[in-house]
Amino acid sequence: MCGIVGYIGDQEAAGFLLDGLEKLEYRGYDSAGIAVFNGTNIRVEKCVGRLEELKQKIAHDMPGGAMGIGHTRWATHGRPSDRNSHPHADESGNFVVVHNGIIENYLRLKEELIDKGHHFASETDTEVVAHLMAEHYNGDFEATVKKVLSIISGSYSLVFMCAHEPDKLICTKQDNPLVIGLGEGENFIASDIPAIINHTRKTYILSDGELAIVKKDSVWVQNRDGVPISKKVFEVHWDAEAAEKGGFDHFMIKEINEQPRAVRDTMTGRVAKDETGIVFEELNWTADEMSAINKIFIVACGTAYHAGVVGKYYLEQLARIPVEVDIASEFRYRSPLVDENTLAIVISQSGETSDTLAALKEAKRLGARTLAVTNVVGSSIAREADQVVYTYAGPEIAVASTKAYTTQLVTMLMLAIYVGELRGALPAERAQELCRGLHRLPEQIEDMLSDMDSVKTFAQKYGYSEDVFFIGRSLDYAVALEGSLKLKEISYIHAEAYAAGELKHGTLALITEGVPVIALATQYDVYEKTLSNIKEVKARDAVVIGLALTGDESIAKYVDHVIFIPATDKYLAPILAVVPLQLLAYYAATTRGCDVDKPRNLAKSVTVE
Ligand code: M6R
Repeated sequence: MCGIVGYIGDQEAAGFLLDGLEKLEYRGYDSAGIAVFNGTNIRVEKCVGRLEELKQKIAHDMPGGAMGIGHTRWATHGRPSDRNSHPHADESGNFVVVHNGIIENYLRLKEELIDKGHHFASETDTEVVAHLMAEHYNGDFEATVKKVLSIISGSYSLVFMCAHEPDKLICTKQDNPLVIGLGEGENFIASDIPAIINHTRKTYILSDGELAIVKKDSVWVQNRDGVPISKKVFEVHWDAEAAEKGGFDHFMIKEINEQPRAVRDTMTGRVAKDETGIVFEELNWTADEMSAINKIFIVACGTAYHAGVVGKYYLEQLARIPVEVDIASEFRYRSPLVDENTLAIVISQSGETSDTLAALKEAKRLGARTLAVTNVVGSSIAREADQVVYTYAGPEIAVASTKAYTTQLVTMLMLAIYVGELRGALPAERAQELCRGLHRLPEQIEDMLSDMDSVKTFAQKYGYSEDVFFIGRSLDYAVALEGSLKLKEISYIHAEAYAAGELKHGTLALITEGVPVIALATQYDVYEKTLSNIKEVKARDAVVIGLALTGDESIAKYVDHVIFIPATDKYLAPILAVVPLQLLAYYAATTRGCDVDKPRNLAKSVTVE
């Protein structure tokens, strides 16, 4: 995620802005910039690359002034470049903004503004906001911000500067964090607490829909209709390290908790608001093009490969195309049967995994049409593929992938619905039903995350086991693969995922008294069969933790403990079911005192073969 800072007071703003951005560097970014009001106008300085490069650029000519905003960008719309870096201004330079999140309707707004004579300098969604400010400015900064907010939709935290009213910054948020630091004769704005804790520990945490007018000696918070909101001061007691993790003990648990936002952002602009279907403006595929595809390969490594396994079920069942899923390091060397009617989808959080990149090149060489699903704009894989669909998980810092996986699943489901409709394989009513389910996901994940104490208890109880088995059928099996990888990756417990029906072909020999078995039973069409497999392991005295949908009244009779996830469609269940498994792995690892964020022998991005 991008980082935001803002300052208004009597000191030189640039000093705080650069220092604050440095405190947000741990979050990952590809470019940085600041804007400072110098008494006459707003000076914007920005460049692609590290913050250090920005500092060097302005070292001998620091923008002077006591009000400013700054930003570190993690590219979403438009690749990392000087001109796509924030802050963004309108053509007059009088309206300057920084933004985290996604403006969902920016393309339409941009076209309308171009028709009215606006010229854009960047490819970003954010620049549209600065131009809208200029277009609607009526001599009242605050009223114009409210007008612009009524026009844009999406997720955002935004800070606005206006050269005509340089005594204030205005900020607001929707589904993205923003805090205001309260000082003496100065006030601060930041997307994250680490940016401000060297200056103040008194904060207002803004809620969605709130708008703050921040002056050097006052902060006035209201809702979008102007109704005043009395905010409680939140005193930050965390040290700098804890603040980087948002008060969580590890990046992994922070990222698990970011999943509602990550999933929401990934769907923004893609799941139609009226839930009528899926829009992929970046693909714009036609029915004819999709009818010509007779085979799909999904190629990836690790967790991304597991997302591919789920994707196979989605694409085969909803779009009715044969799909093969390959581990990237295998695909390259097995002479895959690929031709021009093949679509090769590579999935990669980092976009830099060497094996996946090589597999992508091989698929291209063999004539396939290629699509990358990745989290990093402008990454090698994004550049190499014919087309790209980005997941909007934001930077993932923990080695164990969590929010990248859930956003990959959401993307694969959206793709399957999109292709299914184009090929006439998916009835419109079914697509709508799935879109409604997708819309509910962020809230359902939030609810689950607020009530997962039982998972922690199981992890503490069974965290010293030598072996753990994960079983499931159909999509439950696909999720079991990821649950098992998460557990072994960070807790070093030996874990195996098995298709539940396959147990009796060998694995059952390993199930002995007291061995924990996590049995996923969320798939109603194979539910009875899964129960039979649960009985098989119970008969060998395994301790079974069932994972089932809320409302399942049978499961408790067959297992020792149950974890319930919200009742949902079978295709949406994997996106919810993985959350308790991530938490199980996390708490097992903390119980055993493992280095959760940097597990032994593993790297976040594997750029060697
Ligand atoms: O960046 P990528 O998605 O291409 O990475 C692929 C794997 O290396 C990665 O998913 C790995 O398995 C994770 N550490 C799992 O948590």
